[in-house]
Amino acid sequence: MKTLCILGGGNLGQSIAKGLALSQNKNFGKIILTRRRTHLIESLKSDLIEISSNNVEAVKKSNVIILAVKPHQVQDILDEISAVIKPDQILISVVTGVEISDIKKIIRAQIYRAMPNTAIAIQESMTCISGQGSLDQDKEVLELFEPLGKCIQINEELMGAATVLGACGIAFALRFLRAATQGGIEIGFSSETSQFIASQTLKGAAKLILENNSHPEQEIDKVTTPMGVTISGLNEMEHQGFSSSLIKGLLTSYHKIKK
Ligand SMILES: NC(=O)c1ccc[n+]([C@@H]2O[C@H](COP(=O)([O-])OP(=O)(O)OC[C@H]3O[C@@H](n4cnc5c(N)ncnc54)[C@H](OP(=O)(O)O)[C@@H]3O)[C@@H](O)[C@H]2O)c1
Repeated sequence: MKTLCILGGGNLGQSIAKGLALSQNKNFGKIILTRRRTHLIESLKSDLIEISSNNVEAVKKSNVIILAVKPHQVQDILDEISAVIKPDQILISVVTGVEISDIKKIIRAQIYRAMPNTAIAIQESMTCISGQGSLDQDKEVLELFEPLGKCIQINEELMGAATVLGACGIAFALRFLRAATQGGIEIGFSSETSQFIASQTLKGAAKLILENNSHPEQEIDKVTTPMGVTISGLNEMEHQGFSSSLIKGLLTSYHKIKK
């Protein structure tokens, strides 16, 4: 069985390790999760997950390497592993804004980029992948992420957009959820019940679109009666800039990445 290492056991690195442990991927018998302050991830240690601060040893033992550090930490860590990484090893970078060509300047390996989100910890990620190696390597990368949620291949030029819509999107959706919960409290529910109702409703709305393959407006039409309650509230939200503020926020994040 193969070994996979995740260099950078922070928020996303830990989420990937948790998702992989849940998915019981039979291809990988060992996952090595590294960070400098290993005491912060001791609780993740298991028969499957090994904790280490030694990136070089982790890379030497691994067939697949996931790079999950902050963009400004990439250069140092790639310099550190450049002498030991081999051309046939697969390195998948989940780092925002660092291009495949930047990584190839420092190390010789099969480089991919992936943009998952933190729901990868519960196998519900949206993961966008770019990069190309041999057919077998492409298959291996897809097979790694497919059990961890939904997965599509995109051109690398769209990675910035994938980051905003898919990865930052978790925060955007959760701010909607929090606001809905606050409204629910004001109209009578306890915070726990309000959050429960709002969360299940958000999940149901997303599943209607994913499973029926329909357009949001089609589903909205089904719950809006002429002169009714839903359309009154919805139109008031639009008067207050609901869709517009969301689109403007997405664009602001996108322009920030492009800088
Ligand atoms: N969070 C998300 O939702 C998300 C989604 C998609 C993509 N991303 C991208 O994923 C990357 C990681 O994001 P994050 O939110 O997980 O950041 P983070 O929580 O800061 O994690 C980065 C981790 O890297 C470790 N690290 C730094 N230098 C290291 C080194 N030389 N060797 C080993 N470990 C090292 C740090 O731990 P120590 O300081 O203890 O070493 C830290 O825990 C970023 O580039 C981000 O843009 C994040």
